[in-house]
Amino acid sequence: MSSRNKNSLIHFSNLNSTDIYSIFDTARQFSLVPQIDLIAKNKGRTAALVFFESSTRTRMSFESACARLGIYPMLFDIKSGSSLEKGESFEDTILNIAAMQPDLMVIRSGNNLDQLSIAADFEIPILSAGWGVKAHPTQALLDIYTLNEKWNGIVHGKKLLILGDVMHSRVAASHFELAKILNYEVAICGPHHFVDKAAQAAGVQVFSDLKSGLDWCDAVMALRVQNERHQDSFDMSHYSEHFGLNENTKKWIKPDCVIMHPGPINHGVEMDAVVISDSRSVILKQVTHGVYVRQALINQLLGGS
Ligand code: CP
Repeated sequence: MSSRNKNSLIHFSNLNSTDIYSIFDTARQFSLVPQIDLIAKNKGRTAALVFFESSTRTRMSFESACARLGIYPMLFDIKSGSSLEKGESFEDTILNIAAMQPDLMVIRSGNNLDQLSIAADFEIPILSAGWGVKAHPTQALLDIYTLNEKWNGIVHGKKLLILGDVMHSRVAASHFELAKILNYEVAICGPHHFVDKAAQAAGVQVFSDLKSGLDWCDAVMALRVQNERHQDSFDMSHYSEHFGLNENTKKWIKPDCVIMHPGPINHGVEMDAVVISDSRSVILKQVTHGVYVRQALINQLLGGS
């Protein structure tokens, strides 16, 4: 989070555990009761949702969260035709959207846009919807909201194994931060070239074989192998054999372990249908919870009770 804009969410530096559990409480209320009074209060408010990279879950759940709060979502989608095609820069695009005076701005971008500087430059709340390999704070929050619900409010001391392409994962980067605030343990597992640098940077435990990682954890989150960010192609079948969650490796997942994936899933690579549909899987619950958590965050950043 930018130190000059305390109403933004990029990293978690301005949030403590009380703030986060308060967001979770609000999200839980939003999951139970439609917010008729907030819809009336927010009438006329707008949120700019600026997506310079593709998205399904994050984009649509922010749209849904805005709609449920009575805030009009103004969507900028990189694929939908814009003056980027005429050579306008990302920075100028942001400046011009901000000049339309939305009440908040949500941004998904690559590493090349400095989301922290943008947050520092504007008074309105800036929420990261994913920033290159650096951060995906709302994904980490919705993951932990999901586990918090599953574990009846006790996340402290629990063990989350993040499995796979950690070096390209902004989700993992945000969990490394969030775990320090909420006191859950994170370890990583995967081939050396996916985990070694990340383990060094984050100072987390590494499991180089899947069975011991699954033996250790209370929840396992498989990550998408991000082919678009790899310099060299690699052998997917080898990856799937050693680190995929599938018919062969499912037997190592403990009976009460929670199975997660932030999506989108490479079927047959990091996870197979037999695991996705397992009763321990909360993958679609994560998506549902993403709406409530983003709704609660937006409400709080706009000063709602
Ligand atoms: N989890 C996630 O960020 O998915 P999208 O890329 O579809 O938004």
